[in-house]
Amino acid sequence: MIKPKTSCVVGVQWGDEGKGKIVDILSQEADMVVRFQGGGNAGHTVVVGGEKFVLHLIPAGILHKSTCVIANGVVVDLIQLLDEMEELKRRGVKIGKNLFLSDRSHVVMPYHKFLDKHSEAGKQKLGTTQRGIGPCYADKAARKGIRIADLYNEEFFTERVHATTEEKNKVLAALYGAPPLDPQRIVDEYRGYAERLKPFVADTVELVNEGIDAGKRVLFEGAQGSLLDIDFGTYPYVTSSNSDACGISAGTGVPPKKIGTILGVAKAYCTRVGEGPFPTELTDALGERLRETGGEYGATTGRPRRCGWFDGVTSRHAVRINGIEDVAITKLDILSGLDEIKFAVAYRCNGATTERMPSVTSELGRCEPVYESFKGWKDDLSRMRDFDDLPRAAKIYLNFVERYLKVKVSMISVGKDREKTILRK
Ligand code: IMP
Repeated sequence: MIKPKTSCVVGVQWGDEGKGKIVDILSQEADMVVRFQGGGNAGHTVVVGGEKFVLHLIPAGILHKSTCVIANGVVVDLIQLLDEMEELKRRGVKIGKNLFLSDRSHVVMPYHKFLDKHSEAGKQKLGTTQRGIGPCYADKAARKGIRIADLYNEEFFTERVHATTEEKNKVLAALYGAPPLDPQRIVDEYRGYAERLKPFVADTVELVNEGIDAGKRVLFEGAQGSLLDIDFGTYPYVTSSNSDACGISAGTGVPPKKIGTILGVAKAYCTRVGEGPFPTELTDALGERLRETGGEYGATTGRPRRCGWFDGVTSRHAVRINGIEDVAITKLDILSGLDEIKFAVAYRCNGATTERMPSVTSELGRCEPVYESFKGWKDDLSRMRDFDDLPRAAKIYLNFVERYLKVKVSMISVGKDREKTILRK
């Protein structure tokens, strides 16, 4: 298992790889767990003793003694964050000096959520989570965003909310015929949320860097997955942040040379929510079986996930851009009972065979996977805790994943609960 001072967990596929569970396990030995991108679009599920926790903004380390940080690269829906804090407290999780929110993080405003919803009702639908993520990052880049620190500067905040809301009202009316939002109501409401969040606000750049310099074990928690990365994913069917290790420095202020091992998380098969190409998708009864057995419904939106075989080609791309050496394979138990398991080793595209993921998304949509076929197994894996216990067919499959991706499969998840995990030395 990886144990360097700083490490990072990222998704190798299109999100929902089971990062929550892996972060939860690694958090047991982390002093600090840091979210660096994304927002309430994430849904990290952790099951402890049969009890399920779904975290959207707060790092999964909150269930342990780790200090949790929502860093500057995250876009924060204040209502969602406060609700999440309340829900955790209600369930007996301590929230106090163990949670920090960056003063540089951008705030997801009501108009961001409306713009996301309305634009998703149009022709250019991407299948977003409608949490206002894209419009908020767009305002950040356009330098029209509101940062957490701005909430405490009454004059600036009031002025900015009025100016921006008026502008957005024009867009909402002209493009979608939507009623206007009341800027002063937003100001009053958000100042209230800001007061409640004040004790958690900090300069997290200092906090995280000082922690690393003092020898603390820091774990960076990625959200979404590498194939949803705005630069290296299946653009435009992506999220609006760098959802891989490339996003850590910009999203935290920790310099690249201080970022240690990158652990990639991949499901033993593959899923995707929302629009966009998915070459190994199974639209038949087998896909339905994976969805039902794997409980493949979105933790944030409840949408059914598209299911298919492991795509080695896109995963290799993810391994390359992240510099992944270790991989955690999740949901291996879901494959039990299948006669045959397939793994895409190449694509046939425009009459040629390639092992490279096309950078042009429309081209990826035309690719036909070339599969390597494996024998399945019938055994129930959920009680297995040692690699040697696994059925021979499962070992052959995992050894192939290792060889193809040139990584070490250092963790294998065989059930929802924290305990149902195989750790390899
Ligand atoms: P957005 O991040 O809400 O703008 O959505 C953009 C795309 O990313 C859509 O295809 C979403 O389904 C997908 N997406 C965003 N967050 C997640 C996630 O946590 N898991 C899986 N897909 C996600």
